[in-house]
Amino acid sequence: MKRGLLSGVVAMSALALAAGLNGVPAKYAEYAGWEVVADKGLPMGGPHAGPGKVVYANPVAAKDWKSGKPLALGSIVVKTAGPASAPTLLAVMEKRQSGWYYEEYFPEGGKYLLKFGGPNNQGLCVGCHTGAKAKDYLFTRP
Ligand code: HEC
Repeated sequence: MKRGLLSGVVAMSALALAAGLNGVPAKYAEYAGWEVVADKGLPMGGPHAGPGKVVYANPVAAKDWKSGKPLALGSIVVKTAGPASAPTLLAVMEKRQSGWYYEEYFPEGGKYLLKFGGPNNQGLCVGCHTGAKAKDYLFTRP
């Protein structure tokens, strides 16, 4: 009973969070319910600047995060900076048939806008993340 109530509350806050991320596809915006795989020692600066960086992995990605194997198709990794409910940036990597797909959103005028990455602009992200090729392009993986 108590447990049901608690998970209800968690589900509701996840929903509220997703609803607050206007402009971010729902499958990326639900990160608040995922496992946190990195939140310590991330640099303040760099391409994804800001304090309070957190990296979340969906269940598919979390399963093999520490294994050293390439992550499975359907893996989604989201990195945010700033408050969890209103991040100051939201960077996404999604493992697709064609490989990792990259998008980065920033809040502007009450919405989140796709500013970097996206269908026609993968080069910037790929160029740098190739530096982590040995860890399946993920820098914060152990
Ligand atoms: C100049 C280098 C550089 C560029 C360009 C870059 N990244 Fe990153 N990215 C990093 C580094 C370094 C980290 C780990 C440290 C950190 O989070 O600050 C990282 C971390 C991430 C993470 C967390 C998973 C991981 O790799 O550990 C995501 C998601 C991500 N980047 C998405 C993107 C997207 C989307 C783009 C393009 C819009 C992009 N990155 C462009 C260097 C880069």
